[in-house]
Amino acid sequence: MIKIRQEVPCDYAEVYELVKKSFATSSYSDGTEQDYLNELRKKDTFIQELSLVSENDEGKLIGQIVLYKMKIVSAEKEFVELVLSPICVHPDYFRRGIARALMEKAFEIAKNMDFKAVFLCGDPSFYRKIGFKPTFEYNIFHIDDKLRNAEYCMAHELIDGALRDISGTIDIE
Ligand SMILES: CC(C)(COP(=O)(O)OP(=O)(O)OC[C@H]1O[C@@H](n2cnc3c(N)ncnc32)[C@H](O)[C@@H]1OP(=O)(O)O)[C@@H](O)C(=O)NCCC(=O)NCCS
Repeated sequence: MIKIRQEVPCDYAEVYELVKKSFATSSYSDGTEQDYLNELRKKDTFIQELSLVSENDEGKLIGQIVLYKMKIVSAEKEFVELVLSPICVHPDYFRRGIARALMEKAFEIAKNMDFKAVFLCGDPSFYRKIGFKPTFEYNIFHIDDKLRNAEYCMAHELIDGALRDISGTIDIE
């Protein structure tokens, strides 16, 4: 049983060190994810209920996830959905289902808040296992994706068919 709860301000310092340590193992990291998260929490796109942490039996933090608000811009209108960034797990706990459990819990809360979809830029070999698909399959394109075939820009519907009538451009890191 993986223990997951909402992040609270007194977790921030421990989460900072967790994010730094975890992303140090990633070849995609620019080494600034922990600072990015500190800045993200100050923005009005941040949603406290969608910032979660996982604890081990001793209460030490071993995983975190944040979903924040983002606009999809189309010619007709704007839609507000979610971006997943960052997510990480302590390296001592990789491959035990913690990232999957964090996503499942965050998606359940997001769905109950009436969000329809979650977007991200990330490693397709990992996120496809969770059910993410490239956004071009939904007619939604990353602003930098001039060829409209970027596998790294991905979406996950919280409700089947939720992106069927949405198209447009997204601008996420
Ligand atoms: C990527 C990361 C979050 C995965 O966390 P995790 O708790 O080990 O993942 P899980 O155990 O929940 O794995 C879920 C599935 O993805 C697979 N998986 C895990 N890490 C993977 C990886 N690096 N590449 C491809 N697949 C991976 C698992 O085998 C599992 O698949 P399965 O259910 O079909 O067996 C973790 O390695 C991490 O924190 N890395 C450093 C930070 C990072 O890269 N964050 C993501 C930024 S895009």
